[in-house]
Amino acid sequence: MKIINKKIINDVGGVRITQLDIEAGDIASKALPGQFIMLMVSEKGERIPLTLVNADKNKGIISLIFQEAGFTTKSLGKLNPGDTLYSLVGPLGHPTEIKKFGKVILVGGGVGIAEILPVAQALKEAGNHITTILGSRNKDLLILEAELKNTADEIYIMTDDGSYGRKGFTTDMLKELLSKDKYDLIYSVGPIPMMKRVALVSKEYNTKTLVSLNALMVDATGMCGCCRVSVSGEVKFSCVDGPDFDGHGVDWEELEKRNKVYSVQEKHICNLFPGS
Ligand code: FES
Repeated sequence: MKIINKKIINDVGGVRITQLDIEAGDIASKALPGQFIMLMVSEKGERIPLTLVNADKNKGIISLIFQEAGFTTKSLGKLNPGDTLYSLVGPLGHPTEIKKFGKVILVGGGVGIAEILPVAQALKEAGNHITTILGSRNKDLLILEAELKNTADEIYIMTDDGSYGRKGFTTDMLKELLSKDKYDLIYSVGPIPMMKRVALVSKEYNTKTLVSLNALMVDATGMCGCCRVSVSGEVKFSCVDGPDFDGHGVDWEELEKRNKVYSVQEKHICNLFPGS
């Protein structure tokens, strides 16, 4: 659980995205694309889930990429090589289904781009034609473009302000592609509003869509019910049934509400520990 390497991927306009490489041989040896880990920075801290971006089985090292947004991710971002985590559990969740689907579009937004990378690599290896749509607020906030260019057959970049690629949303490009050609699978990770729009657009074109949900989690073993989501009228737990779900079946309004439930307390903690 020792941190081996730290890289600040982005630190622009108050948005800091950090990569940590962590010694975790047991997790690295078993991890598959789409799975996640739970970690605690300190004994009295909360547990947070983070998707595995890479697992080097030979070196026994896992890589995590996260945006320093709340109290715990900011605390995590303060750790340096040589520091150790209080706890680390994984790999958790079901791996993403990897097989030859045919033509696949991966849509990543913000820090979710880091999470589509291992899935894109595995789907490419399985013989799929990979189209990637990456979205960020502006050019400076775009991450892992080079890595995804190496993997994808086609790549499209969308920025909210038009400072790079095309101006607009990932779903504008998705709609354009789906209106011209038939695709066999869409896989999306990013902010909930983006995944919700991806699912709405792809439903119009009747294209299978998987989304990796970032529901709030506490124990990540299916015991607490915190990560409950409704999918096609059934109650599912993101930690043990997911994190990938059929985007067309997700109750997005409920998920949005549940993920905001602790936002007041989060602000309160950040105010109590300014600069954290
Ligand atoms: Fe508790 Fe999933 S985090 S049931």
